[in-house]
Amino acid sequence: MSEKKEVSLVRFFRGANLLGQTILQEGKTVVEHSYLAEVDIPTNCTSGNCGACMVTLLSGEVSVPEPMPPGLDEDFIADGARLGCIGIPKGDVDIDILPPL
Ligand code: FES
Repeated sequence: MSEKKEVSLVRFFRGANLLGQTILQEGKTVVEHSYLAEVDIPTNCTSGNCGACMVTLLSGEVSVPEPMPPGLDEDFIADGARLGCIGIPKGDVDIDILPPL
């Protein structure tokens, strides 16, 4: 009996459109996954300070850094906001590449 290997997917949407997807790479950031999926997420500081890379988590889990970086706040996080340059996806994750409204 062979065990089926579980593969997780990171998918990128804009609204209802699926822009691209890639297999989860343990420990890589959302933005690194977006390169693999050939999807463009704007970045600037790449260190959690500017908020340029803010995306919306639709489902799944993306880490929120502790302490909270200047680019995020509690209200944004409650709306699903994550910073692509430092957020690490875990398991199957769906992301809208636009920040929450
Ligand atoms: S690129 Fe500045 S917070 Fe991510």
